[in-house]
Amino acid sequence: MIKACLFDLDGVVVDTAVYHYKAWKKLANSLGFDFTEVQNEELKGVSRMDSLKKILAWGGVSKSGEEMNALATQKNEWYVDMIQQIKPGEELPGAKEFLQKIREAGYKTALGSASKNAGIILNNLGITNLFDAIIDGNSVTHSKPDPEVFLKGAEAVGVQPNESVVFEDAVAGIEAAIAGGMYSVGIGQPEVLTKADIVVPGLYDMSIEKLKSLEKISK
Ligand code: BG6
Ligand code: MG
Repeated sequence: MIKACLFDLDGVVVDTAVYHYKAWKKLANSLGFDFTEVQNEELKGVSRMDSLKKILAWGGVSKSGEEMNALATQKNEWYVDMIQQIKPGEELPGAKEFLQKIREAGYKTALGSASKNAGIILNNLGITNLFDAIIDGNSVTHSKPDPEVFLKGAEAVGVQPNESVVFEDAVAGIEAAIAGGMYSVGIGQPEVLTKADIVVPGLYDMSIEKLKSLEKISK
């Protein structure tokens, strides 16, 4: 029986995926190259440093460890400037309502995000209290597709992995859910999130009935 819902943040609860993309693009451009939206899919769910390593490889650019730290800090400064502007009500359509609905129905909720900025974003949105547990980039050592962030989320709310559903917009996040033995709901396009149990365009399209229908699949 499904007892908990574990949510990625960027691109699932709030449209920050677009700010990550803008900030990384600005950084790549400052180094004299560019990357595409298709390549950007590979950055979703991936930690800040791992994202930088991929981007530098795309640009054929090599940097020392110290230079990489400076570049990651620069990107984060641009990104934090953008997320400071986030206000209550700017969740993605249906996200807050779905969280409220499942909590009222007795499901546990946890955040499972790779971001070290998750706390600022939830605070600015005023929805921190909609999560029973918050596991973010500050509390994990392994990046998605490793299941650590979701295993810790399930554990924090006292639920088994096979009683948990992960909501994810990233290929790496769906892989993490599979590796953790959890159900997965892809948020986005079925052509991209091919391994998810089901895919919906956004949380506005989720319902308790759809959640329960996952139980037909054995985990
Ligand atoms: C994930 C995003 O949620 O967090 C990635 O999908 C991002 O794009 C990662 O790189 C780390 O975020 P931050 O805020 O710690 O740089
Ligand atoms: Mg995401």
